[in-house]
Amino acid sequence: MLPIDLETLRLFLHVLAATVWVGGQLTMGALVPVLRRAGADVPALAARQFARVAWTAFAVLIVTGFWNLAAYEGKDRAGFAATISLKLVFVALSGIAALVHSRARSRALLALGGAGAAGFALVTVFLGVVLTG
Ligand code: HEM
Repeated sequence: MLPIDLETLRLFLHVLAATVWVGGQLTMGALVPVLRRAGADVPALAARQFARVAWTAFAVLIVTGFWNLAAYEGKDRAGFAATISLKLVFVALSGIAALVHSRARSRALLALGGAGAAGFALVTVFLGVVLTG
């Protein structure tokens, strides 16, 4: 059995939280048409319940993200600073777009915020994998 240590736990928590934040948004987006058919207020009720889980996952991503950064061995690698800076910009954009989405009063802002939150989060995952390479 390969060794299981603190690094394993750190990356496990970061990846788990990423699956909830990103995978959860994509799944909610796919379920909306069915939720709408179940009742006019059902999408909002489901979204509010998802938001509790999603924002918890986002908080875990921020905490384990800075832990990753502190433990990261390749800080002097060419391109690391640019990659992590770009990733942090997309983390912020994903969080802000999700906030705009959750506070939106118009369908247009709801759709824009939702698409932005998921799209920016997908780029963040990609940059996370680039960092581990
Ligand atoms: C929406 C938020 C975020 C998502 C979806 C995300 C996603 C990911 C993913 C999928 C990986 C690859 C893990 C692996 O292959 O083992 C990763 C790695 C990493 N992430 Fe994040 N992340 C997020 C936020 C952050 C934040 C806020 C920071 C820093 C403050 C951060 C720093 C890192 C670092 C340094 C690595 C490389 C870890 C290593 O190789 O040791 N992440 N991230």
